[in-house]
Amino acid sequence: MERLAELPLAAERLFQQHCAGEPHAAAAGALCDGAAALAGRGAAAAAAVDRGLAGVPPTQVLAAGVASLLALQLALALARWLLRVCTVAAAFRCCLKLPLVRTIAAKEEAKETGSLFHKYQSRRAGSLRTIPATALSEDQILQRLEKGERASRKFYEPSEGGRLSGAVYCADAAHWDLVSRVMRMYIVSNPLHIEEFLSVGQMEAELIRMCCNLYRGDDSSCGVGTSGGTESIILACLAYREQGRARGVTAPNMVMPATAHAAFDKAGFYLGIEMRKVPLDRELRCDVRALRRRIDRNTIALAGTAPDYPYGNFDPIPEIAALAQSRGIGCHSDCCLGSFANAFAEQAGCPLPHAVDFSVPGVTSISCDPHKYAYGPKGFSVCLFRDKALRQGQFFACMDWPGGFCECRLHMCVGWPR
Ligand SMILES: Cc1ncc(COP(=O)(O)O)c(C=O)c1O
Repeated sequence: MERLAELPLAAERLFQQHCAGEPHAAAAGALCDGAAALAGRGAAAAAAVDRGLAGVPPTQVLAAGVASLLALQLALALARWLLRVCTVAAAFRCCLKLPLVRTIAAKEEAKETGSLFHKYQSRRAGSLRTIPATALSEDQILQRLEKGERASRKFYEPSEGGRLSGAVYCADAAHWDLVSRVMRMYIVSNPLHIEEFLSVGQMEAELIRMCCNLYRGDDSSCGVGTSGGTESIILACLAYREQGRARGVTAPNMVMPATAHAAFDKAGFYLGIEMRKVPLDRELRCDVRALRRRIDRNTIALAGTAPDYPYGNFDPIPEIAALAQSRGIGCHSDCCLGSFANAFAEQAGCPLPHAVDFSVPGVTSISCDPHKYAYGPKGFSVCLFRDKALRQGQFFACMDWPGGFCECRLHMCVGWPR
């Protein structure tokens, strides 16, 4: 490398020696001499190759030429692939396999975990580790809880300087008073017992239908109520896994931009789906061409987010969905964070960059969290499906349990008003 770097300087020096004090014509002559010498060497090399190939049949020469070209193309494709997979993260993962690096990383991890644990545990003033021998009075219980609640309030309550977002979505006390009254009414309910808690199932079904409408689903659209965005995403992935399994996919993968929520990774961990998180472009946006390159015959679905949690960007759902449709697979539009804000954005005078709902051909499922920008209590989310066939894959029912027929969202199978 060093010698290569020195080449231009050496050439310049030679040229200056050649031309020192000579008129331009002499310099040009020197250059021509150089060119002629080069051409002579080229001709001599060609003649040497011809001599070497003398007697070799032309078909063999042709075959060798084609083979070399193919090998070159293969090498270039390999280099391109290496460039793609050798991201900084991949290099980091490789380094982590080295025993010395692993030992250092394990030490650092233990140190960090220890300090995190200490940081939070040390602030748990007066923590109880056993059930108190004498019962606490109602006042004592309330005092204890109020203390903890006061400590949290300063983070989200605007009048106390709170500015928390992405965790608390509404700080209107009157709103939460109403929600509390509603929750009080249903505090003992168990919707698993359909007969006794009929109205809970109906509430859930009504919410699902409202979300289908907000996300422009037609009569075939449907959904399930879940405990939060993470569960909605897990159930959507389960539905795609089952759909893939029905067409013979045994090692499924899903492809999505790196900003897709960690809930997808959790789904991958639980359900045995490889989650292919594709690097973003320079502007931290989804790179659809890069997504396309990661799809293969084991890809069961693509996913995009509207908007994403890390940067607040809207992935190009129409492009991702069109790509999915062209490959005959599903596309999940994660609208957990956008929830009801997405649906009313246009009416509020700030239209989204593009549609993210079922009006987009190829969008087959959507997660939407009423417990975020619908100001519902935690945790409630819905996972919407374009049709019932896809939804079917994520249902679970156990028919032969001695404790009775254990339903899973049965009320939605048997046709509640949705
Ligand atoms: C885009 C997105 N998807 C999924 C989730 C997961 O939702 P939850 O925290 O309700 O499980 C979040 C949470 O912030 C999110 O922002």
